[in-house]
Amino acid sequence: MGDPTESALERLLLASREAYENSYSPYSRFRVGAAVLTADGRLFRGTNVENASYGLTVCAERVAIFSAVAAGAKSMVALAVSMGSPTREASERMPCGACRQVMAEFMAPDAVILLGGEDTCRLSELLPRPFVLPSA
Ligand code: THU
Repeated sequence: MGDPTESALERLLLASREAYENSYSPYSRFRVGAAVLTADGRLFRGTNVENASYGLTVCAERVAIFSAVAAGAKSMVALAVSMGSPTREASERMPCGACRQVMAEFMAPDAVILLGGEDTCRLSELLPRPFVLPSA
């Protein structure tokens, strides 16, 4: 399967920015929005959701991926993330390690990852060697 079209990726980035606006991050004040595109062309949004019990926080990328899975999607071809302050240092656009592993569960190594508007990579660059269960 080829890469998603430019216009599909633009819509995905826009959706991640919309989700960013819904960030629930009163503790860190670090806003994150994400959106995933499923193999069958659907789009799902996620935002980071924090909690007074800090460890219960869930990242935006996982919220987006889990809502796609809840709607029946098992395969995703692209993910966009918008995070951090408006100055957007490169280091403020990097998905955490846990989210990278969750991406690897549902996305192929060549899946497109949009890190804000300026930086694009493949999942294999973010997580070259994911954990996989040895088959029985
Ligand atoms: N966060 C994400 O939503 N995604 C990431 O990939 C990294 C971190 C959130 C979690 C928390 O609400 C805030 O950013 C600061 O860690």
